[in-house]
Amino acid sequence: MSFKDEIKIIGLKGIPLIEKGDNIPEIIIETLNRNGLALEDGDIIVIAQTIISKSNGRTRNLNEILPSEKALKLWKEITPKVKSHGLPEKSPELIQAILDESKEIIKSEHVLITETKHGFICADAGIDKSNIEGEGIVTLLPENPDKEAEKIRTTLKNKTEREIAIIISDSFGRVFRLGAIGNAIGVSGINPILDMRGKKDLFGYELQTTIVGHADSLAAAAQLVMGESDEGIPIVLIRGYNFEFNKETTIKSILRKKEIDLFRDNEEVSIRKILKNRRSYKLPFTTRNVDRKIIEECIELARWAPSAHNSQFWRYIILERDKLRESLIKKMNEKLRIDLLKDGKSKEFIKSKVEKTKINFLNSPILILLCLDTSELDKYPDPKRSQNEFLLGIQSISSSATYLLLAFEMKKLAACWYCAPLFAKSIIKENLKLPETYIPMAFFTVGYPIQAIEPPNRKKLKEIIYELRF
Ligand SMILES: Cc1cc2nc3c(=O)[nH]c(=O)nc-3n(C[C@H](O)[C@H](O)[C@H](O)COP(=O)(O)O)c2cc1C
Repeated sequence: MSFKDEIKIIGLKGIPLIEKGDNIPEIIIETLNRNGLALEDGDIIVIAQTIISKSNGRTRNLNEILPSEKALKLWKEITPKVKSHGLPEKSPELIQAILDESKEIIKSEHVLITETKHGFICADAGIDKSNIEGEGIVTLLPENPDKEAEKIRTTLKNKTEREIAIIISDSFGRVFRLGAIGNAIGVSGINPILDMRGKKDLFGYELQTTIVGHADSLAAAAQLVMGESDEGIPIVLIRGYNFEFNKETTIKSILRKKEIDLFRDNEEVSIRKILKNRRSYKLPFTTRNVDRKIIEECIELARWAPSAHNSQFWRYIILERDKLRESLIKKMNEKLRIDLLKDGKSKEFIKSKVEKTKINFLNSPILILLCLDTSELDKYPDPKRSQNEFLLGIQSISSSATYLLLAFEMKKLAACWYCAPLFAKSIIKENLKLPETYIPMAFFTVGYPIQAIEPPNRKKLKEIIYELRF
């Protein structure tokens, strides 16, 4: 494919105000005729989204919208920010319309950036108040811009026998740069991207990464002729741009996939990171203190773990670095020493084990004790069911403990789960004066890490998914 060195961008003058049900291909042919033009193979027609939306009846009357609680909440949140930026306020009704057109709210600050149902990231889900008559009437993006482009292209092909491409455009603001420019939102006959990978540059080097967003460039070029305000040129003919005609095109191919989008707060990527990065941190912590408020925020999240009968058997006790913790650890260590002596362990082993435990539990900025509150367990007359209920309690507090560790990871805190309290239940209960129904189950050391920990080996998936064989 070779590039021509001259491209013409011709605005079609005299397009009437478009109304619902208007036939856009017919209007294009008539206007071309009036402008003394006829379609040629290889032409590209760029059409402003507004007229497609109007002809499709994709408009909404804001006065007929009843805002939901979500819309009202968003309105309350953003209105002060909108005002402080001197921008026009968005009504709860407009916010509702934006929500109805969106898959996800990406940012809600002084502007509302959303992902539309098509996958476009733009302000206000592409809802537009300009270039439409009527108080409270807004245009929505076409439901399926590719389909609309395809319909117009095939109708024009049938009427003129010309192989042309259609781009439906809208102007979007951009990240990092000021100024809205034309973007392609629907295509037919032209691939939205031009993959140059494998082609040679001026010096014969093979291009490794170059993908040209030429449909957006064409839409942006057309915008120069269309204008943004009252120019009234919603259809532009681009002639002389060399492109490969392709019937199987979709605007979806220009949309960056979430997984490789570096700039988006991607829920899946963030959650995956938290799940994978959490480590049992057994090294010394930094001297930085941990704010109790952060610990409480993490425990607040740990409340959302699943529990049998939603009984929430977990009880957390936050132990600061004080005399109480010191005397508790001392007593627990005495018990540990006796247990290890009974096990017949060597003096050196016992000394090092006790020392390690002491350092771990005394030095961590925060030590959390997790207890199972047995008063929440259902009571059964038979011991087997009671035993199972007890197991349910343990399983439930374990799920909360896992949430807690993940919440710490989210807060960039390091932590480790220790089973020591299981071996010193009565000492702990006595020293901390815990309620009779509490069973001490685990300690969590928490603080800021000095260094990252290499993840220990994980079993392969096929080792942990047991395939049934009959
Ligand atoms: C129920 C439970 C009890 C644990 N008890 C201890 C413990 O007493 N001492 C210790 O060093 N690590 C303890 N750990 C941490 C494990 O050693 C650690 O989770 C495991 O090696 C995997 O490492 P990772 O958490 O970094 O993925 C415990 C973990 C769990 C879930």
